[in-house]
Amino acid sequence: VTGAATLAGCGLDASPGQSGELLRSKAKLPTPFTVPLPIPPTKKPTSPGRYRVVQRKARLEILPGLKTEVLGYDGLFPGPTFDVRSGQTTVIEQVNELDVPTAVHLHGGHTPAASDGWPLDLLMPPGGHHDHGHHSMGGGDVKTGSRLYTYPNAQRAATLWYHDHRMDYTAPQVYRGLFGLHLIRDAEEDKLSLPAGEREIPLVIADRAFDEDGSFIYPAAPDRPGVESKYMEGVIGDVTLVNGAPWPIHEVDAVRYRLRILNAANARRYELAFDHGPAKFTQIGSDGGLLGAPVDHETLLIAPAERFDVIVDFSAYQPGDEVTLVNRLDRNAPVLRFKVARRAADDSHIPARLSTYAAVEPPAGAVRRLWRFRRGSAGGHQGWTINGKAFDPVRMQAQVRLGEYEIWSFVTDVHHPVHVHLAPFQVLSRRGGDPGPYDGGWKDTVDVRPAEVVEVLVRFSAHKGKYLIHCHNLEHEDMAMMAGFETI
Ligand code: C2O
Ligand code: CU
Repeated sequence: VTGAATLAGCGLDASPGQSGELLRSKAKLPTPFTVPLPIPPTKKPTSPGRYRVVQRKARLEILPGLKTEVLGYDGLFPGPTFDVRSGQTTVIEQVNELDVPTAVHLHGGHTPAASDGWPLDLLMPPGGHHDHGHHSMGGGDVKTGSRLYTYPNAQRAATLWYHDHRMDYTAPQVYRGLFGLHLIRDAEEDKLSLPAGEREIPLVIADRAFDEDGSFIYPAAPDRPGVESKYMEGVIGDVTLVNGAPWPIHEVDAVRYRLRILNAANARRYELAFDHGPAKFTQIGSDGGLLGAPVDHETLLIAPAERFDVIVDFSAYQPGDEVTLVNRLDRNAPVLRFKVARRAADDSHIPARLSTYAAVEPPAGAVRRLWRFRRGSAGGHQGWTINGKAFDPVRMQAQVRLGEYEIWSFVTDVHHPVHVHLAPFQVLSRRGGDPGPYDGGWKDTVDVRPAEVVEVLVRFSAHKGKYLIHCHNLEHEDMAMMAGFETI
């Protein structure tokens, strides 16, 4: 996996597989593995199926002894975790008490278009004169103060996440804190005896850089929306946060754990590995829920927005042992440490057959579409394009019939994590060969390497309207690497 060569001369970080410009913190940083791993709180409904979230600023102690101003769902970083049942609709009232417009997207959700967080369907803060962005003519459905988002959750159990999707400003607004988890559970998953309770741990990984006073450093362009053009490859920081804490430590029993791993970074990829010992990653699920059968990995390569649901067995370690997750793409930089505390009983189980997931044979005559992800000019600036076009909210690049399988080919110049809204897909091939080791199951984001072609099989089964395909390197996305398509 090498993306660096193609980008040489663009001032990128030297790590292989990484695209982006490294920001260095000026704040005093803690010694790794001194801060405990926080677990984002589970969001409580106000009545069955109804929730209320306030988007607000908060000053949080992310680095010990310093305060960081965040934009947070309920003022949290990450936001609260939604833990819901498949087939049970949730209605979430989002209240904007920030001073910027927002748009909430449920990533991986099979969501009606009106609630999908189209980048111009803005939620404006109440009153006053606000920065409405440069695209108020784009015809969005704009609400002020609060907005209801309806999620049918009519899909299989999976690890989803929600985050801001405001046009041109997704990268800085997610960077400042507008992201969180949304878990869907179902009966198929309940039947398995997977590790649960304290032994089911979300790991939301993201990198950031901090100024001397603890504030986030983000290179916003002074003269136009989004990021400074020097950072068009992507913003990467020198501090690794897990669930909002820098290089945390977590105590575990010598038993199996279920880790739901999300890469919530704007642009950084991770190749997670254990620094020593027998631990490996037994993958049980991907973006769109359980695999058919478990897959073992020595290391876990995870691009922005991807999720891996894995079981890690600590039973071969001794009480007192410490085992560290490191990032192979960044010279084994630390991510998180587990401290094995004690032996304990374990009645969890990883069955050989996890779910009814099956690979789908593409039907003969399936519609084929080509999506080219390339550098190009966007609105007169250097930026990123899909099929030669910068994102234009009034131009749909495709009309897709509900209920039909289509074969989509993603073609890249440099490394791009490609994401499709509304429906998941199965990876059919990479570079004309077999799918890669991390491509199993239903995916909604696939990391397409430099000068590569990835073919996927996709089918949108419900909801007519406007949806998005885009690069999930958030700086690429804000610099116009996004296209609308319409389901009909
Ligand atoms: Cu995770 Cu269109 O986004
Ligand atoms: Cu990209």
